[in-house]
Amino acid sequence: MGKQFYITTPIYYVNDIPHIGHAYTTIAADVLARYRRLTGHDVFFLTGTDEHGEKVHRSATQQGLSPKELADRVVTRFQGLTPALKITNNDFIRTSEARHYASVHHLFRKSLEGGDIYLGEYEGWYCTPDESYWTDLQLVGGKCPECGRDVEKRKEPSYFFRLSKYQRPLLDFYEENRTFIQPDSRRNEVISFVAEGLNDLSLSRTSLSWGIPVPDGPGHVIYVWFDALTNYLTGVGYPDDNETFSRYWPADVHLIGKDILRFHAVYWPAFLMSAGIEPPRKVFAHGWWTVEGQKMSKSLGNVVDPYEVTEKYGVDQIRYFLLREVPFGLDGDFSHSAVVHRINSDLANDFGNLLNRTLNMLTRYLEGRIPRREKPDDRDRRLLETIEDAVAAVEEQMERLEFHKALVSVWSIVGAANKYIDDTAPWSLAKEPEKRDRLGTVLYTVLESLRIATILVSPFMPETAEKILQILRQEGSIESCRIPRSTEFGLLPEGTVLPDKAIVFPRIE
Ligand code: MSP
Repeated sequence: MGKQFYITTPIYYVNDIPHIGHAYTTIAADVLARYRRLTGHDVFFLTGTDEHGEKVHRSATQQGLSPKELADRVVTRFQGLTPALKITNNDFIRTSEARHYASVHHLFRKSLEGGDIYLGEYEGWYCTPDESYWTDLQLVGGKCPECGRDVEKRKEPSYFFRLSKYQRPLLDFYEENRTFIQPDSRRNEVISFVAEGLNDLSLSRTSLSWGIPVPDGPGHVIYVWFDALTNYLTGVGYPDDNETFSRYWPADVHLIGKDILRFHAVYWPAFLMSAGIEPPRKVFAHGWWTVEGQKMSKSLGNVVDPYEVTEKYGVDQIRYFLLREVPFGLDGDFSHSAVVHRINSDLANDFGNLLNRTLNMLTRYLEGRIPRREKPDDRDRRLLETIEDAVAAVEEQMERLEFHKALVSVWSIVGAANKYIDDTAPWSLAKEPEKRDRLGTVLYTVLESLRIATILVSPFMPETAEKILQILRQEGSIESCRIPRSTEFGLLPEGTVLPDKAIVFPRIE
């Protein structure tokens, strides 16, 4: 096994069922996890649910359930995303699990023993939807400065974390680790927030019982964000399984939405520094989806259900759409017309057509048999160069989490191969018996372009890629492929007979 790669999604609140925004982060993480497995990494991919806190408690009460009952019901909807969206997470963590209690207690005690946690009294405001604390000065027009919703007054005894002490260490850390917060625009936002000064953070609640109790702090439960963030440690064996923990920690990347960046880029590294644990290598904040131009909300009734849209359009199609349509890091709009357009133009017309015309010509001109290739001419060589460039570009783009660009790179192969067919005109070559060898080389070159494009696109569209490899009669599956070994040109064995057609990307009328 090669180098380790540890990737996480946020853990999702169980007060509500999953929507397309949740599916988006999980799919993006899955694409990266699959790609890193292809490049030979020893990947650990974690997702899960955030089950404590006031928000979940309230939602349960409204439905006449205990918080645990609500969590047990809703968690299945999140766990069900794994098969439904073809997600390859290695573990699914629930914050209500015993292993997580042990981990949170351990981390809490570390900071307590180090003198970074003390008992005091909290007086200020609380935003329940965001589970965040605010001072008088921070409120905007009396509302939460983050989401604009109502806040509630709080006055209670509380344990505090000495966040103020970490202002300098955090600023130094951002300076020394320039790619810790991505994209760059977000990085500047966080640095200004920290530079303005940090207040100590309330770390426990006495007015709530649904949470992890403070060790030796009767009546107090631990602040839900301290609890939630610690999942990233629990998932890789903290504190007892040192072997797994030292193998995967620090995480290579926490993928999150832009609304929860402060928790991940400020609080989280501070908690870890306090406990003497190395912070994660990268936090990447993606944008938000609107639907048909509007904010997604229950009251508008426009919440997109990931189960429904994948049922309707296909899992790979939705995975492709979400990562192709919008640069990762920016906001985007989910509309049915945009999904249909991507499916018909990029998938059916470009990729699907390349596959079909190639199989069709192979059957008509060469009895469906993979031909032998002769020495490449200049035109062939240009296509081979396009392929090599795309393989290299995809690596750089995936390293930077530029998913849409990686897909554009794969499509550069598809486009070049379609054009190569037009230019070499196999239908003309087929009319001249003495050009049979040349015809073979041309079709071989196209088949190889298809095979390599398929491997590169497989993290995004795993089911389709598997189907295409079967059509090309490739032994084994995507799992046995490795980049760069499998993306070398010339691996298709001559003589194998292929089918005359394959509809892997049906058009939507
Ligand atoms: N439980 C916390 C995360 C704790 S991580 C240690 C939480 N949960 S959440 O369920 O409210 O949100 C989970 C993720 O969904 C967040 O990253 C959030 O940005 C994302 N999204 C929620 N709505 C979204 C869209 N409309 N579009 C894209 N992502 C969205 O926050």
